[in-house]
Amino acid sequence: MRIAMIGGGYVGLVSAACFAEFGIDVSVVEADAQKLAALRAGRMPIYEPGLDTLVAENTRAGRLSFGDDLSAAVDGAEAVFIAVGTPARRGDGHADLTYVYAAAEQVARALKNHAVIVSKSTVPVGTGRRIAEIIRQTRPDLEFDVASNPEFLREGSAIGDFMRPDRVVIGAESEHAREVLRRLYRPLYLIEAPILFTDIETAELTKYAANAFLAMKVTFINEMADLCEKVGADVHDVARGIGLDGRIGRKFLHPGPGYGGSCFPKDTLALVRTAQDHGAPSRLVEATVAVNDARKATMAMRVIAACGGSVRGKTIGVLGLTFKPETDDMRDAPSLPIVSRLAEDGVTIRAFDPQGMDQARALLPGSVVYCRDALDAAAGADALVLITEWNEFRALSPARLLAAMRGRVLVDLRNVYDPAAMRQAGFDYHCVGRPRAG
Ligand SMILES: NC(=O)c1ccc[n+]([C@@H]2O[C@H](COP(=O)([O-])OP(=O)(O)OC[C@H]3O[C@@H](n4cnc5c(N)ncnc54)[C@H](O)[C@@H]3O)[C@@H](O)[C@H]2O)c1
Repeated sequence: MRIAMIGGGYVGLVSAACFAEFGIDVSVVEADAQKLAALRAGRMPIYEPGLDTLVAENTRAGRLSFGDDLSAAVDGAEAVFIAVGTPARRGDGHADLTYVYAAAEQVARALKNHAVIVSKSTVPVGTGRRIAEIIRQTRPDLEFDVASNPEFLREGSAIGDFMRPDRVVIGAESEHAREVLRRLYRPLYLIEAPILFTDIETAELTKYAANAFLAMKVTFINEMADLCEKVGADVHDVARGIGLDGRIGRKFLHPGPGYGGSCFPKDTLALVRTAQDHGAPSRLVEATVAVNDARKATMAMRVIAACGGSVRGKTIGVLGLTFKPETDDMRDAPSLPIVSRLAEDGVTIRAFDPQGMDQARALLPGSVVYCRDALDAAAGADALVLITEWNEFRALSPARLLAAMRGRVLVDLRNVYDPAAMRQAGFDYHCVGRPRAG
């Protein structure tokens, strides 16, 4: 079986490598010349654990290839996946579908055989129908099907998520489309992963509903953390106390600096706009977006308060820049407003991130000093702020950190450290939603 993947980014590349691992021939079309050159040279344009090995093995086996010739890639393909970006449109927050529609038109022009054109990109309700219209207008002679197969993988554990998903959602309206996608995902039947067949609109909306629900859960526990700080309660115990209730569940109940990343911010916004457009506004999601934006904007104030109310002329070490660990993705990372605000206030920022510093350079103020490791970031710092909970930060020696620093303020925005141990070691330790801990 042969398929084509349009877009070799986080989702396209991971999905392509995993389908190839299932034994399918996959041709990836990538428009960005630099990314394509890297892929062809066997270098990964993104950091994702295990991806380099999976890509290398499947390329060697001849099942995975990369190019920019769309006609060659779709020739003989039974399914053509569109996995291009759908960023938030500037100004109104609607999903920008320029890349999706452009890809649909290119695919329509290039196809010589019947194929199922599948949107793997996260797209608003109605996009599948619009893709079908574009293809019909471009190639009235072409026989094709459209389908929606939203992707639920998480960066940092993308391969495991793709290979052992909680579920696969497939929106399709013809038996042929369902049959092709069923065959593609056949290996997952063996591990009994639930495969949900729906119509196209339902599949499209399911993806947004999932992300909005998770974003809401994170935002809820962040608000509870704020309340804990006011009333002297411990948010970890609250999270455990509610999370052990099977109806609520323990995941996504970790307080922090607000959600970021390549999906939640843009997908919650796009859902808000879709719901408004259809006269069924989602007040919960609207509030989630507003509360999270406000939270991210005020995180720098927390650091300033921990430093005694003024940071002018101080040096602050920053541990972690990416929006979460195990990725190099900086899109909408909470570190961006925090670091920018501190730099505006005349702070010298010494930052370290295990994978994200290349991407961060383009997004953060030019004055940021990028460091070799966490200890280097702490060198001469008046305060240290942990923004991303990379595992290597958990094991740092408090004594060595303190010896490297000038001050002793530690702001832990992910609650990774034991408050009692950090205070005993000599830190002026601040965390989120645990006023009395330690
Ligand atoms: N990143 C995630 O964790 C994640 C998870 C689930 C769903 N999604 C969704 O998947 C989609 C893709 O996200 P991503 O993070 O992989 O984006 P990305 O920006 O990393 O990758 C998109 C790639 O598509 C390429 N591209 C754009 N137009 C093209 C064209 N016409 N032909 C060939 N290549 C083209 C771009 O150069 C880029 O490399 C989005 O809709 C996103 O919401 C992302």
